[in-house]
Amino acid sequence: MIELATSESVARAAALIRSGGVVAFPTETVYGLGADATNAAAVAQIFAIKARPSFDPLIVHIEGAAMLDAVAAQVPDPARALLAAFWPGPLTVVLPKSVAIPDIVTAGLPSVAVRQPDHPVARALLRAAGRPIAAPSANPFGYVSPTSAAHVDAQLGARVPLILDGGPCRVGIESTIISFIGATPALLRPGGIGLEDIERVIGTVHLAADAPLPSAPGQLPSHYAPRTPLELVAQLADIPAAARTAAALLLPRPDPAAVGFACVEVLSDDGDLTVVAANLFAALRRLDAAGYTRLFALPVAEVGLGRAIMDRLRRAS
Ligand code: TXA
Ligand code: MG
Repeated sequence: MIELATSESVARAAALIRSGGVVAFPTETVYGLGADATNAAAVAQIFAIKARPSFDPLIVHIEGAAMLDAVAAQVPDPARALLAAFWPGPLTVVLPKSVAIPDIVTAGLPSVAVRQPDHPVARALLRAAGRPIAAPSANPFGYVSPTSAAHVDAQLGARVPLILDGGPCRVGIESTIISFIGATPALLRPGGIGLEDIERVIGTVHLAADAPLPSAPGQLPSHYAPRTPLELVAQLADIPAAARTAAALLLPRPDPAAVGFACVEVLSDDGDLTVVAANLFAALRRLDAAGYTRLFALPVAEVGLGRAIMDRLRRAS
């Protein structure tokens, strides 16, 4: 059931978490499906509700330095520098895990992904629960992540007792994941913080593809995908008129040449990547539900948030 996030509903959600239950809650990136990260049985419910394969580890959400030290066995200096710069915020760091985190959370890996979210409701929930909260995005495995409480309710509502509604997600795209397990920091998933901003703090970050690290299933080629086939095209001229009539088009900014489509969704007025990211998943869901035969999308430049946007569009296609 969806409930507006108030001090009363957050307190009830925290009690649910402490008693081994599952709660959906807003973060600044996407909505999460959370359980007490120190309770293996509680976390098992997340995998069941999402139909998530057990080999796909979860991100542990924390609030404050004490919780970080409780979940991570060790925090290397470059990781500390990154956290100081971007937490709370859309950054996840992979660190050696502590014994407090059961294997189900990390899919048996000796590492744990940790994030301090920047949403007042997520933070209030973490404080009230007093536990680290393991939470993947609150969507069925492989589908587009939810950026509103209604998105969560539409797909998982029947199986989630409480969905805290904290409004639409400000960032709208998942966190950037940086691993500190290998010899040098590695990017496991582009996300809400641009790689350029991260490299300004810790220097060169390797791309996971050329780093010898456990791959993040968020990197499976098909992920974040709508049911309707989506095609990423280089330019509008690549879409023949006949292919347009029953198709919907997703555009980063208005384009006068976007004619002949059954529907055109414009993600921003001026191509601002922050706005494009914030609107992307809701638009994908809307178009997916509307029953077009195909979806087309045009690219954005792969700088800053554009890297994450293009990553999600490729995996959606
Ligand atoms: O913005 C976000 O990160 C959102 C919100 C809810 O915080 N969460 C999210 O979680 O996107 P999820 O489960 O959809 O994606 C987490 C990714 C997965 O691809 C998983 O494989 C990777 O994090 N991951 C988790 N633990 C890991 C570890 N120990 N090593 C490598 N990758 C890990
Ligand atoms: Mg996910």
